[in-house]
Amino acid sequence: MHKVLTFALSALLTLSLISLANAEMSEKAQMGRELFYDPSFGGTLDPYGKPAKVTGLSCTDCHADFDEAANPDGRIRSGHSIVGVPHRGQAKGGMIKGDMFRRAAGGGGFCYQHFLQRIPSDKVDPIAIPEEQAEALMAYFEHVSGDNKGPQFEIQMLDKEAASAAADTILAMKGDSTRGWKLYSRACNVCHLTAKKSGIGPQLVRSKPPADLEKRKHKIAAYVRRGGFVMPFFATDRLSDQDVADIVTFIAELTNKKK
Ligand code: HEC
Ligand code: HEC
Repeated sequence: MHKVLTFALSALLTLSLISLANAEMSEKAQMGRELFYDPSFGGTLDPYGKPAKVTGLSCTDCHADFDEAANPDGRIRSGHSIVGVPHRGQAKGGMIKGDMFRRAAGGGGFCYQHFLQRIPSDKVDPIAIPEEQAEALMAYFEHVSGDNKGPQFEIQMLDKEAASAAADTILAMKGDSTRGWKLYSRACNVCHLTAKKSGIGPQLVRSKPPADLEKRKHKIAAYVRRGGFVMPFFATDRLSDQDVADIVTFIAELTNKKK
């Protein structure tokens, strides 16, 4: 009898805790969550549609919305988790701060125009995102963050020379293609489906092998560190030099494989 009562009480307590946690998400935060996951956020996926056609990327392709250090899911995203964004107070290495910070969804306003709407980074206005949507995203960031300050990191934006030097370091390392295959799946596959198929990003292994394989490997390594037009860069805390060396070795091996 006693046991049954304790069980019933603890079940009741668990249930009410669960509903409390669910009830906590405000309507605004729920809207932010949906925007965060929406591949048509910021435009339309209809190639003939208006307004602006979007890339089909969603925030969740490049950012986790949970504590990746505490509960890793195996994916390697170019951006850091949005847990902790409201505590940061500035973004883009201090370019977005003060009153602009909230209005730019903690820096997400930059990504909105650049990665979703394909606007060149020097033309991006981080507060062009509609205010209601920026607020909804911030409400969601607050919801998932609580007191969690999130990951600590510094933005690593490399110019051409720095990316080329980074590639030199990477190519001097011995790569492991089996490990590279796994890492490719976890980091690149979201946009470059498999190395022989294109997705949002192009096919990385073409049917005609490159004339100069070393040059090709160098380009891939530099591209990962610097990013491209829409492709985001991967900083050293997302993919280490050894990780990139492994990925490059994997792609290079496929390049030479005849089927
Ligand atoms: C194609 C990949 C990609 C997409 C899509 C993307 N981001 Fe980002 N985002 C990045 C990268 C890379 C950075 C810079 C490094 C970092 O913050 O981890 C960044 C930076 C940020 C930052 C600022 C971090 C800081 O403190 O400087 C926030 C906030 C953010 N993104 C939110 C968003 C939101 C919201 C969306 C959807 C509207 C989004 N991002 C879409 C890749 C992306
Ligand atoms: C969020 C999407 C995304 C992710 C993730 C991504 N790429 Fe890309 N990548 C692209 C897009 C889009 C392009 C086309 C050029 C541009 O817009 O930057 C591209 C272009 C490239 C290019 C230049 C084209 C070529 O064949 O020379 C290389 C190299 C490349 N990606 C390698 C990688 C590798 C390696 C990874 C994983 C570490 C990766 N990419 C992850 C989207 C992505």
